[in-house]
Amino acid sequence: MARTLKVAVIGCGAIGERLHIPDLAHCAEAELVAFCDASKARAKAMAEQFAPDAKVYTDYKKLLKESGAEAVCVLLPNKFHAPVTIAAAKAGCHILVEKPMANSSAECQKMIDAANKAGVTLMVNQSQRRLPAHIKAKEILESGILGRVNYVTGMFGHSGPENWSPTGKWFFKKEQARFGAMADLGVHEADIIRFLTGKEIVEVGAFTACLEKKGATVEDNFSATIKFDDGTLGMFGSSWTVKGTMVCFTRFHCQNGNLYVGMSEEEPCWAELHDPECRIDFDLPETELKYKDSWGVDVGSGFVRACLGLEEPYCTGEEGKKSLEVILAAEKSAQTGRIVKVKL
Ligand SMILES: NC(=O)c1ccc[n+]([C@@H]2O[C@H](COP(=O)([O-])OP(=O)(O)OC[C@H]3O[C@@H](n4cnc5c(N)ncnc54)[C@H](O)[C@@H]3O)[C@@H](O)[C@H]2O)c1
Repeated sequence: MARTLKVAVIGCGAIGERLHIPDLAHCAEAELVAFCDASKARAKAMAEQFAPDAKVYTDYKKLLKESGAEAVCVLLPNKFHAPVTIAAAKAGCHILVEKPMANSSAECQKMIDAANKAGVTLMVNQSQRRLPAHIKAKEILESGILGRVNYVTGMFGHSGPENWSPTGKWFFKKEQARFGAMADLGVHEADIIRFLTGKEIVEVGAFTACLEKKGATVEDNFSATIKFDDGTLGMFGSSWTVKGTMVCFTRFHCQNGNLYVGMSEEEPCWAELHDPECRIDFDLPETELKYKDSWGVDVGSGFVRACLGLEEPYCTGEEGKKSLEVILAAEKSAQTGRIVKVKL
């Protein structure tokens, strides 16, 4: 029988309940051994539903000391990503940390250094890399059929974290989240654009605004124009004030045609060559998901399999940091009104 990995979940809020925990509970290579949340009731509820024998904690340090976990998923408000990741690395645990990786470039580097020193795997949950439509889009772009990518546009928007997480008031507070829509959703776009093109974004000019979220100390809208290392241009943005259906798409305008990819069920991935009549709708790769109620991305099991050496990490600490550097450059640009070079 394949070896299993003892996994603990630190932070049992919306993303834990909807994505990581059900995925890990169905992962043949994972054994859920502990749950931690500041709310004991919350951690207990997750244990009862998904792994009744798992231990329950309210203090992550105690969990790291006592639970016997070999790996942890850090699913906490942004300001805790760095300290908890570093503590977990020091305890010898592999780590999957939620996006945005941390609240600063220095924090990201300390997390990478701590993982390297401890010899553990550090991954960042840039979950869009696991979406079937994006896996297909990468295959198409790498096949060369569309030729060189000349221009990229991307947008990710929804109605705001208040409609996502009942405990998510922290999303609106700068001291806890550091960023608003810019990193909550914008870092997904920065990452997927880097991942799919295989090019680095080197310069950014950006704007932010807080238009509707009363009392928020972070932005609820964000827009950036970007330049890549090979001169390709593009723009992307994110918003917490989109009404109705969520918007999530990335478009690649290439030498031989266009590729459209998004999270819409109707049109997840399609391309058109020079002749607009020539449209190809792509079948998406089958995933091995054995549960229904999430978005269909097997991030927790991907992490576990990477720790066991069964697959490559889908997003390393270094990659997570690079995507955050784009957002940090954008933040600086919005603050100064200047074009800012991305720290590579
Ligand atoms: N990859 C994605 O697509 C995606 C989607 C949503 C959220 N996220 C990220 O996941 C992280 C968590 O977001 P969420 O929506 O689950 O938030 P949430 O507010 O729903 O959950 C956070 C949980 O952490 C607990 N918590 C807070 N401080 C704690 C502490 N010190 N110790 C233990 N528990 C503590 C809270 O009680 C809460 O249950 C954020 O970084 C967010 O950006 C990622």
